Amino acid sequence: MSGKEYPISTEFVQQAHVTPEQYDALYAQSIRAPKQFWGEKALKFITWFKPWNEVLTGSFEKANVSWFQEGKLNAAYNCLDRHLETRANQVAILWEGDDPSEVRKLTYAELHEEVCRLGNVLKKQRIKKGDRICIYMPMIPEAVIAMLACARIGAIHSVVFGGFSADALKARIEDVDCHLVITANEGLRAGKTISLKKNVDEAIQDCPQVQRVIVVKRTENAVPWNAVRDVWYHDLMADAPKQCPAEMMDASDPLFILYTSGSTGKPKGIVHATGGYLVYAAITHYYVFDYHAGDIYWCTADIGWITGHSYTVYGPLLNGGTTVIFEGVPHYPDFSRCWDVIDKHRVTIFYTAPTAIRALRREGDAWVTRAERHSLKLLGTVGEPINPDVWEWYYNVVGEKRCPIVDTWWQTETGGAMIAPLPGAMPLKPGSAAKPFFGVVPAVVDEQGHDVPAGVMGKLVIKQPWPGMMQTIYKNRERFIDGYFKEFPGYYAAGDDARCDADNYFWIVGRNDDVLKVSGHRLGSGELESALLHHAAISEAAVVGVPHAVKGESLYAFVVTKADVGISEQLKKELIQQVRRLIGPIATLEYIQWTDGLPKTRSGKIMRRLLRKIANNDLKELGDVSTLADPQVVDNLIKNRIDLRDV
Ligand code: WT7
Repeated sequence: MSGKEYPISTEFVQQAHVTPEQYDALYAQSIRAPKQFWGEKALKFITWFKPWNEVLTGSFEKANVSWFQEGKLNAAYNCLDRHLETRANQVAILWEGDDPSEVRKLTYAELHEEVCRLGNVLKKQRIKKGDRICIYMPMIPEAVIAMLACARIGAIHSVVFGGFSADALKARIEDVDCHLVITANEGLRAGKTISLKKNVDEAIQDCPQVQRVIVVKRTENAVPWNAVRDVWYHDLMADAPKQCPAEMMDASDPLFILYTSGSTGKPKGIVHATGGYLVYAAITHYYVFDYHAGDIYWCTADIGWITGHSYTVYGPLLNGGTTVIFEGVPHYPDFSRCWDVIDKHRVTIFYTAPTAIRALRREGDAWVTRAERHSLKLLGTVGEPINPDVWEWYYNVVGEKRCPIVDTWWQTETGGAMIAPLPGAMPLKPGSAAKPFFGVVPAVVDEQGHDVPAGVMGKLVIKQPWPGMMQTIYKNRERFIDGYFKEFPGYYAAGDDARCDADNYFWIVGRNDDVLKVSGHRLGSGELESALLHHAAISEAAVVGVPHAVKGESLYAFVVTKADVGISEQLKKELIQQVRRLIGPIATLEYIQWTDGLPKTRSGKIMRRLLRKIANNDLKELGDVSTLADPQVVDNLIKNRIDLRDV
């Protein structure tokens, strides 16, 4: 259980920011005197217009933690302006298009100018400090420009992943209540177009508050146009002035809102405050990736996810790095794409998700070894547990045993990496996210909130505040408190199961709530079930996860039709289509089992835990079914379960 160990090479250790001894000392100091530690780091990593009064106030008990109170700063200033003196001509954004022949490079000076212009464009559209702006974009430089332009003028960006459907976009636009959307006419992915503007049109059909849609022209194809509401990005930018002062923001002013799935109901708008988030994004990017000036850093995450925010955009730009923005996918034009991009741009740090690694591994080593990968120095992974075999392949084949792998555990809510090996400071264990980052105090606890012994599985909590933590859930403080601080008073409940071994290495097992991870994307059972219930033929539904060789998890639905409805292959197809339409193509049901009823507690709650066991054919210990309203239901469900396909 404490696993195989891989030491870090002496060569790597010699150039690393942190040695093993330093880690222990720094970590101890960071949790003993967090205010002093974070105060010093905040000054080192961020430029403040005005210093804070207090590093840290509030507590988990009261769910009112606040960092760097009264401190003034601006995110865009920190990502751009302060670098101009020393690295105006260094490439900030290295954009690799879907088609390998398309490359764009923006220096810090150029990016700064574009951001200032767009900031002025937004101001001319009467956007003010505190207004929310929705960004629904492909992975093109303008997406980053849009985020930073919002930050520059104090507007709060809410990026919605371009793979989400019109309905999912609509729900997010309505919740965040924005007047302006920035999008592109189309996106490009593996040679195919994605109709972003069309989705926006559909999403805002009955959202009268959206008065303006700014459209970047990514392809030459025409799209429907509303002359009153829609404007071309390039037209507005043409005569926009280049000077745009960076707004003085309070450390506690929200920088962005990002929607993520909870176990039930609709997605929640995670709010990150400017001060703490920036400090944490910068420092974790620097230490976890052992970032050095001159590195070419590539995080494959889309900006629609937190990984894209913290480690494609903010972290690398705060540290004055060159960040690769990749529009395409790992399998296009062929399975060598990632490794070709690494050779082409001399990428030194590569950070991706286990699902991508699994998919590439399946195609065989030749796609990897065809490329040189000499520039690579460090590899990273995030989003779900990485299976030790997959880890070893990544380490041996991709990294040629030369590159440490940082397996980073964190969440949309945590803002940045929380548990991850500091490369150079500790040996690696395949499948373990290793040890906590500075200032982070994780623990594995039982149902009563007591620490469990080494090796025993329990629930993962965080015992002390850290600067990257979310500020609240947008317009829903109650859900913020209930979801994270109620189960274990005084602790932050992560929603994951984990073990901690005798060497103090953490092994994350997976979610302990009804959140699913499909290809690393977070989906809530409740949200999927609502999408099914939207169909006139359906009376009840429950969705659980089953293992999938590439996606990690795939979706297994138990569906009860209304009394007068016959079941059919056609209905199955409709349901699959409907969930994709309401959420997005990532939400594709893999299995649908028809049933007459669902197992429920006497109070009427669907017992998803039991359903998960049935779907997984894990029938030995079905647990306590004594609370079941109708035990007969379970026998029928077992009898009719669908055999999982070999994928
Ligand atoms: C959930 C958070 C934070 C970036 C992307 C995901 C799972 C994340 C790991 C890892 C095992 C992981 C957890 C967590 N997770 N990283 N290295 N090992 N599990 O953000 O979409 O908010 O999902 O992803 O279950 O709770 P997210």
